[in-house]
Amino acid sequence: MKLFAGRPGWTAQADVIVIGSGVAGLTTALNARAANLSVLLVTKAHIDEGSTKWAQGGIAAALGPGDSPEEHKEDTLIAGAGLCDIDAVNVLVTEGPEAVRKLIARGAVFDKAESGEIALTREGGHHRNRILHAGGDATGAEVSRALLAAVQEDSGIEVIEHALVIDALKSPDGRVCGVTLHVIGAGSSTGVGRALARAVVIATGGLGQVYSQTTNPSVSTGDGVALALRAGAAVADVEFIQFHPTVLWRDTSSAGQQPLISEAVRGEGAILLNHKGEKFMATVHPQADLAPRDIVAKEIFNQMREAQVPHMWLDATAIVDFTERFPTIYASCLANGIDPLKQLIPVAPASHYASGGVLVDLNGQSTVPGLYVCGESACTGAHGANRLASNSLLEGLVFGARISEHIAAHLLPQSQPEDDSSEARTLLDPSIRIPLQLAMSEGAGVMRSEKSLKATLATLHQLGTRQTDQPGVDAWEVSNLYYLATAIVRSALERSESRGSHWRSDFLETKAEWEKRIIQQLDFDGHWSSEKIEISQ
Ligand code: SIN
Repeated sequence: MKLFAGRPGWTAQADVIVIGSGVAGLTTALNARAANLSVLLVTKAHIDEGSTKWAQGGIAAALGPGDSPEEHKEDTLIAGAGLCDIDAVNVLVTEGPEAVRKLIARGAVFDKAESGEIALTREGGHHRNRILHAGGDATGAEVSRALLAAVQEDSGIEVIEHALVIDALKSPDGRVCGVTLHVIGAGSSTGVGRALARAVVIATGGLGQVYSQTTNPSVSTGDGVALALRAGAAVADVEFIQFHPTVLWRDTSSAGQQPLISEAVRGEGAILLNHKGEKFMATVHPQADLAPRDIVAKEIFNQMREAQVPHMWLDATAIVDFTERFPTIYASCLANGIDPLKQLIPVAPASHYASGGVLVDLNGQSTVPGLYVCGESACTGAHGANRLASNSLLEGLVFGARISEHIAAHLLPQSQPEDDSSEARTLLDPSIRIPLQLAMSEGAGVMRSEKSLKATLATLHQLGTRQTDQPGVDAWEVSNLYYLATAIVRSALERSESRGSHWRSDFLETKAEWEKRIIQQLDFDGHWSSEKIEISQ
């Protein structure tokens, strides 16, 4: 199955194609260059426009005195609610500290304590202060800046900006040997082209735009995950969409990217209050306001539902250095008419992170030869049913390094794509984007049930009949959103229990028989299949 697009009019080539310019893509590209491979880095918007630069809280790593990878592992496993892959977690927490040191060596500057040591804060689910941050609450922007500077200095990395990848190209033996892509607007290369390589790495980040309200930027339409699905790759854990508990609530009609209020604000002492001004998290979990993210999001949702109010409150007025510690959040609160030094901040959950994605092994290899996936687009199993706060930038650093090492050690000669002109093609009308997002928020959001999921699936089926023969960015993006939404709803329907960020009102308990991963695949005619697999624990 492929998307309908014009015939490629130009060709580019490199040893490795990296799609995406967030922490995962940039790290993979730089490490591939260290192995002397030529890299083509393709990114959908301007090179610094992905999710990474929006990351506020930081990077978790066992670097502080008394901390250890073992303790980081414990917190990751608890947050993951019984579904983490132990080998992936071990890789993440043991290779994490070195990956962060390498990032620092590449030029990233983290905030320091008065002692001169790197300052560490806490977020939900962590039993210790182990989150590095930069610019107060602008960690992602600093990580992005440092990695981009290194990429831009390297003449072996060719960058194509404003290019949307469309589909994978495969050689006759089924190996991915390139992609088709469309370069939007002016530039030396325009229109649909093809890029060929000896290995392709998807690092396109999240899919938050599947929902009406999200912390993700508008570019987060899951293009890489959808491309991988259409190329026959298995996806896993896609029902575990993490809703960030504290997103600045503006009004009921606010749609698209919403301002994040980092968990680090609670880490520095802010407290959640309900509509009556009462604290409510201490009776729910021993870690109170710093319980794992899924637990806080659910309780906020419960409180909102019971009181029939559209948001809760976050009291950050006791944080004396708020303006220095959280300059980004301070500015976005002020821009929305809230002074967090004096006023409570209205907050509500919004979609934030896909804990699942394209199923990969410990070297980032998908189930399709030649296709690697890194960062939020991947399902390494390190996050299980609910990612631990600030483990995502870390995952991009650790697995980006492993992927490039694996590619360098297993490089095959460039192969040529087979003729795909007889393959089934589809393309959906851009007008389905808003109804799709509304249906997903309504029926497959923080809380789901068989009834709500079936209604959402029926809406998706109906929207899926609205085809177009006019290729373009909006149509390709909405087609990608459609595949991802369908995968999320199918898995959420199948998982008849509640676990981590998957909360079923009709199956409230967590069931031992469900300590399994649901994987899904699309065949070449667009038919879905699913399977449950055991987890390495
Ligand atoms: C936050 O700053 O609260 C978000 C961090 C994360 O998603 O890990």
